[in-house]
Amino acid sequence: MNYYIITGASKGIGRALAEELLKDENNQVVGVSRTCSIKHPNYRHQPLDFSDIEAVEHNLQKVFLAYKDASQLVLINNAGVLGDIGYVGENVPNERFEFVFDVNVIVPAMLMNTFLQVYQQHPAQKVIVNVSSGAGQYPIDGWASYCASKAAIDMLSQVVQLEQDKRGSGVKVYALSPGIVDTNMQGQIRESDASRFSTVEKFRQYKANNELAQPEEVARKMVNFLNSTNEYKEVLVSVRDMP
Ligand SMILES: NC(=O)c1ccc[n+]([C@@H]2O[C@H](COP(=O)([O-])OP(=O)(O)OC[C@H]3O[C@@H](n4cnc5c(N)ncnc54)[C@H](OP(=O)(O)O)[C@@H]3O)[C@@H](O)[C@H]2O)c1
Repeated sequence: MNYYIITGASKGIGRALAEELLKDENNQVVGVSRTCSIKHPNYRHQPLDFSDIEAVEHNLQKVFLAYKDASQLVLINNAGVLGDIGYVGENVPNERFEFVFDVNVIVPAMLMNTFLQVYQQHPAQKVIVNVSSGAGQYPIDGWASYCASKAAIDMLSQVVQLEQDKRGSGVKVYALSPGIVDTNMQGQIRESDASRFSTVEKFRQYKANNELAQPEEVARKMVNFLNSTNEYKEVLVSVRDMP
C-alpha cells in the first residue's frame, strides 16, 4: 500500500491531487486541513489548523500512524496561504507575518521533522514534496511574506535533502512549483487593489484569457512525477517542466 499524507487536501491543488491518487486502490490518502471535502474508503481526514502551533504539536502523532503495510510513504506539504496583500509599512498588521510563516513554513518544517523521525526505521520508500512557488524565486510587490515563505521552503527542502544524502537514507525531498493554477488563491489575488500590488491586472488577464492551469491537470502531472521520482535529481522542480 502507498500512503500519501497531503496537507490542504480539502480544496484546490491538494484536493485534486488527493482525488487523482484515490483512483488507484493501492493508495491511501490522509488529508490534513481545517475542513474536509472528500468521502472515500481510502481517505482519512485529520483536522488541524496550522495557525494554531500548539494544537499542531499536540496532534502530530495522529497524522503519522505506523502504516506497517506501507511500501511507499509520501508527505506532501501543500497547504498554503497568501496572507494580506500590501506593501510592508503600509497597513500590513504585524501578526500576519507570523500567520503566513506558521502555515507556509513552520508547520511544514514540523511535519517534515516528525515524518523523518517517526519513519526512520520504516523500510518503505520515503518522499517529501513541499509545494512551493515561483514567487519564492523573484520578488512580487505586495507579497512580501508569501515570497519570503516560499523562498524559505525552497531552502528548507534543499538542506533536508542534503542531510538525507549525508545519512544515505534514500529519502527524496522536493520543492515543487505548481504553476499558476485556477484555485481560490488566484481568486484572492485577482480581487486585490492595484495600489497594493502593481501587477494585479496581469493576473486578471490570465483568468480572462483562460491561461490558468486547472487543478486536475496539475494533479495528473504531480501523480506522474510521484511515480517517477527516480528521474528527478534536482530538489527544485516545476510542474511546467513535467510531461
Ligand atoms: N494556485 C496557484 O496559482 C499557486 C501557485 C503557486 C503555488 N501555489 C501553492 O499551492 C499550494 C496550494 O494552493 P491552492 O492554490 O490549492 O490554494 P487553496 O485552493 O486556497 O487551498 C489551500 C489549502 O490549504 C489549506 N489551508 C489553508 N489555511 C490552512 C490552515 N490554517 N490550516 C490548515 N490548512 C490550511 C486549505 O484547507 P482548509 O481551508 O480546509 O484548512 C486548503 O485545502 C499552496 O502552498 C500555494 O502556495 C499555488
